[in-house]
Amino acid sequence: MTRDRSQGTPVLRLEKVVKEYEGTPPLRILHGIDLTVTEGELVAVVGPSGSGKSTLLALIGTLDRPTSGRIHLEGHDLAAMSERQVAALRARRIGFVFQQFFLLPGLTTVENVATGLLYTGESARRRRERAVRALHDVGLEHRLGHRPNQLSGGEKQRVAIARALVGRPGLLLADEPTGSLDTASGRGVVDLLRRLNEEGTTVVVITHDRDLAASFPRQVVIQDGWLTFDERSGDSAPAAGSRAHGGLV
Ligand SMILES: Nc1ncnc2c1ncn2[C@@H]1O[C@H](COP(=O)(O)OP(=O)(O)OP(=O)(O)O)[C@@H](O)[C@H]1O
Ligand SMILES: [Mg+2]
Repeated sequence: MTRDRSQGTPVLRLEKVVKEYEGTPPLRILHGIDLTVTEGELVAVVGPSGSGKSTLLALIGTLDRPTSGRIHLEGHDLAAMSERQVAALRARRIGFVFQQFFLLPGLTTVENVATGLLYTGESARRRRERAVRALHDVGLEHRLGHRPNQLSGGEKQRVAIARALVGRPGLLLADEPTGSLDTASGRGVVDLLRRLNEEGTTVVVITHDRDLAASFPRQVVIQDGWLTFDERSGDSAPAAGSRAHGGLV
């Protein structure tokens, strides 16, 4: 049965979010995105290359600021916060997973995961213990001492997921997490994301995989910087504000 996620606590609220890059004239990448994500949702973001998906995720993840519009994260208005406050919120509440993994090559699996806890101020020993536990959770307890170049692509991505989740963030943002993986490894990563979601983490995933997106409880489509489609499976009608789906994904 589909859980009704439309009524819960908003983790994320975007209001008329615009992103422009400087130039004459300025280059408008996002045209006024309205999007609310509720605690416990599993959301797929799809759209053609260059449509603004990664730009949107960077704004949601506080890695960048919008040109105009508002973003609320767990009730905090990001515009009202200093860089330092935003960085603290990001470190504690948001986990990132990218297509290229971004593991540190000189560090072992455990050390890479433990970097996800540097902000906590915990002892190195405690961070290591938590990292080992997170690696158990992603099925990599037998690869604790390996360095990234000694891991398969799917294993690297599971290390990246363990690093993103070791601090128990409320929101996991993943940008094409299966883009560098073969089908079987990709499926393993998706299963892991689903499991984390079932355990309570809110997950937003950018993907080019239409079948994968269609299997998620909610799909959001970005085209040319516009949010053109937003639907939860089980909804009788598309979410308010969404426009006709052009089917260009
Ligand atoms: N710093 C920048 N300055 C100018 N334009 C930029 C900058 N960063 C991104 N863009 C442009 O913004 C648009 C959206 O980029 P974005 O990375 O969000 O696309 P995307 O939907 O993630 O695409 P893909 O599926 O290929 O990853 C692209 O046309 C890109 O060229
Ligand atoms: Mg992208």
